[in-house]
Amino acid sequence: MLRRLYPDQPDSFAFTADNQAWAEAQISKYPEGRQASAIIPLLWRAQEQEGWLTRPAMEHVAQMLDMAYIRALEVASFYFMFQMQPVGSVAHIQICGTTSCMICGAEDLIAVCRDKIAPNPHEISADGKFSWEEVECLGACTNAPMAQIGKDYYEDMTADGFSAMLDEMAAGKVPVPGPQNGRYASEPKSGLTSLTEFDTGKTKYNASVQLATDIGDTLKRIDGTEVPLIAPWRDKGAMHAPAASSVKQNETPVAVGGGKAAKPAKTTASEAKPEPATKLAKAEKTAPKAAPDGPGTKPKSLESARDGGADDLKLIKGVGPKLEALLHRLGFYHFDQVADWSADEVSWVDQNLEGFKGRVSRDDWVAQAKILAAGGETEFSARKKK
Ligand code: FES
Repeated sequence: MLRRLYPDQPDSFAFTADNQAWAEAQISKYPEGRQASAIIPLLWRAQEQEGWLTRPAMEHVAQMLDMAYIRALEVASFYFMFQMQPVGSVAHIQICGTTSCMICGAEDLIAVCRDKIAPNPHEISADGKFSWEEVECLGACTNAPMAQIGKDYYEDMTADGFSAMLDEMAAGKVPVPGPQNGRYASEPKSGLTSLTEFDTGKTKYNASVQLATDIGDTLKRIDGTEVPLIAPWRDKGAMHAPAASSVKQNETPVAVGGGKAAKPAKTTASEAKPEPATKLAKAEKTAPKAAPDGPGTKPKSLESARDGGADDLKLIKGVGPKLEALLHRLGFYHFDQVADWSADEVSWVDQNLEGFKGRVSRDDWVAQAKILAAGGETEFSARKKK
């Protein structure tokens, strides 16, 4: 199959706010100049969000990583896991056709696909809900024949069972993944013959299926709200400052009520243009070193925290334990202090954060601190408190 750009492409692509935050976090894993290493996870998340990889999505990701678009296209067209054409709105079915599955009935499953979905792979069904393809071994050979549907494996399948499963999915249900013949995992069908002391029934389903049912994202288009963003390396001092590429490009922290984040405020299209991460990193590297007391005016500071103790400044996105300690040394302990900083004062603090210069404006601490000082929550602080 030729892996080329689909002729009918959408006009634009944008990550959801949560996916954008996730993408930013991935970029921050890599050292300066190596952000392109995040290409596969970012393309994958774009596909998880849209169902397939559009040209605007590849361009967007390439721009975030300061890569030539052709490089992103090269990666996307090389790996078969990337869908280069639209897929069914409910599910794209991937039937394993390799030896074990073929012997155990993969061809019957493919016949169901041809009959119920479309005669040819990568063709969308008449109702737009499904598409299918045959793939190579997915590593579940002891549970052959099997298919990957969405994020999960369906194993020990039969043609009739698979056909009924498609009907369920079309009706908006998500059949339980895993073995479809009553097996718990990949033990003999007649039951365990050895290691019988290891009871398989500790959870209702085996670990993979249990997780799949617990998370419930099997067929879902991923928008980033499924699991909280976990990026502990950022508090330890990310290897690279990713901010530019976009989370902050189109949103400002907004107070949330009842623990649910309010929608971020959008900016104009031109403001939303991501500044390539690497470009920023290079700019930071080549920027002349500021004197200890660089431009700006030092904000009013305190000798120590007021009665009641210091606020948890780590609730400000971009402030980790090291930066919090540094802020304390500079005499800043409270959200309201940060909230009151003028542009001139921000400039001073930015210049005086040894090893973290520019973080105040990069993550817009003042806007975040205003919300926190007023007793509100930012999207980040709400997530951190969970
Ligand atoms: S042969 Fe089908 S999963 Fe390995």
